[in-house]
Formats: sequence, structure tokens, C-alpha cells
Amino acid sequence: MNKLHDSKVYLVGAGPGDPELLTLKAYKLICNCDAIVYDSLIPKELLSLTTIKCRHFFVGKRRSQKILSQKQINKLLVELSRDYKCIVRLKGGDPFMFGRGGEEAEYLNLNNINIEVVPGVTSGIAAPAYFGIPISHRKVGSSITFITGHENAADEKNRTKWRNLAKTSDGIVIYMGIKNLRSISEELILGGLQKETPVAIIYQGTLSQQKCYKTTLESLPQEIARDRIKSPSIVVIGKVVNHQVLKCAPKPSNFKFEDIKIHELVTK
Ligand SMILES: C[S@@+](CC[C@H](N)C(=O)[O-])C[C@H]1O[C@@H](n2cnc3c(N)ncnc32)[C@H](O)[C@@H]1O
Repeated sequence: MNKLHDSKVYLVGAGPGDPELLTLKAYKLICNCDAIVYDSLIPKELLSLTTIKCRHFFVGKRRSQKILSQKQINKLLVELSRDYKCIVRLKGGDPFMFGRGGEEAEYLNLNNINIEVVPGVTSGIAAPAYFGIPISHRKVGSSITFITGHENAADEKNRTKWRNLAKTSDGIVIYMGIKNLRSISEELILGGLQKETPVAIIYQGTLSQQKCYKTTLESLPQEIARDRIKSPSIVVIGKVVNHQVLKCAPKPSNFKFEDIKIHELVTK
């Protein structure tokens, strides 16, 4: 049981990068919290919104090495709830979209900690939008799947059934899929998706270094071989890519994700 009975942990979505995509609710919490626990893909500008008294805890990845395990992060949140009244657990995009927000909420709940989730703008929608790509369009279908490409598609033991997905979803939005993109495209073609299906890969969407590569499912391996495709990227697969309206794309933020990496663990 936490000593401060009125303390609360807020699982807050920071959006995909552009600080202007922060929700008003998230903004108010960041400006007023006593402690903030944050991941790698968080705009540094957001951290400077905190008060001078706010304690900062970086728990993300550094050069693909995790600073803390998920178990350690869960425990840290419980400990902080004993010492601070308002704790913001800031996550990139939306906390419940491949962000382990669900696991943290369950753990905190089991430990009788007050919790509240603050949804954020997810990169799977915002990154394509910053190139004018809508993720749904009624002319080309009625379904869209948000999926993690973390598992190797060629490994039979894995749960993601890409071949089935080829038949069941009109559009596919892949998070964390860059490493396995070649096998994913092969599996989707084997599952019946047309080789000419358009693909858009959006790197660092909403930020100054954002890039969008467009290709087809069949040509994806060549695009990968050119070695331009890097993480963090969102991959959109489906005819919806053809409905891009570049004119409506917002101007990206001047901020770069690289700036976050040099922002070491800070205690104000
Ligand atoms: C652990 S997931 C977290 C997703 C996050 N919760 C969200 O809702 O956007 C990290 C992945 O999100 C995607 N991602 C996050 N920010 C991105 C951005 N600005 N541009 C492109 N992809 C991004 C990448 O696929 C990255 O590997």
C-alpha cells in the first residue's frame, strides 16, 4: 500500500515526436508533476516543461541496450508512488499501443496504486499523416490492422500469422517492423497479397528528419538492400497509400530524436 494515499501514477502518451501533438491533459500533467519517468522516443522539449522540483528518471533504451527491465520499471513506479504525489509515466505515442502501458497498469493496480491513463497520438496514424497518407479510405476497404513486426515472420513458432492477414485486412500498419520487413513481405505475398500492393515506410514521422519511402510489396527487398530504411519507422501496406494528398501534410517539428539520446539521466 502506498504511504501517500492520494498519490497517483499517470500513464501519459507523449505523441509521436512533434511536441505540438501533445494533448492538453498531458501538457498540464507534465507541467505539474513531481516525478517523470520517460522512454527513448520522447521529445526533450517536453521534459523542459516540468518544474524545477520535478525528479526525472530515464528508463528507455540506449544503443539498443535497455537501461531498466520492465520488471524494474514496474517496481520503480511503485516506489515513486510512495514518495511523490503526482507521477507521470511518459511514453511515446499512445501508452496502450505497443507501449507496455497495459502491463504497467496491471502491475500498479495489483499494488493498490492509483492510476490513470492519458491517451496519446499514436505514430501509426500520425507518421503517415505527416506525409498526407490516410490510413483508411472507404474507396479501398473497411479494415486496418495495427501490428508489431517484432517477431520474425519466417519463424513458424511465432504468433503473427502474416499469410492469414494478407486475406483479412485491407490495410496494415506495422510498428517495430524494420528488422523483419523482408520476411514479412514474403509471407504477405505467399498469403495472397498482390505483389504490386503499395507500401510506404515513414521514418521519424513528425520530426525534422522525417522521410517517406514508397515502393511495392515485391520491391521491398530491393528498397531494404539500399540500406536507407531505419528505425524508428512505421510501415503502411495497402492501396490506401495511393490516396496520399501531400498538400495536407503538416510541417514537421524542428526537433530530432537524436537529441533525446544525448539527454542522459537527469535529476533536476
Ligand atoms: C515500442 S513502439 C511504441 C509505439 C507507441 N506507443 C505509439 O503509439 O506510437 C516503438 C515503435 O513505434 C514506431 N514509432 C514511434 N515513433 C515513431 C515516429 N515518430 N515515426 C515513425 N515510427 C515511430 C516505430 O515503429 C517504433 O519502432
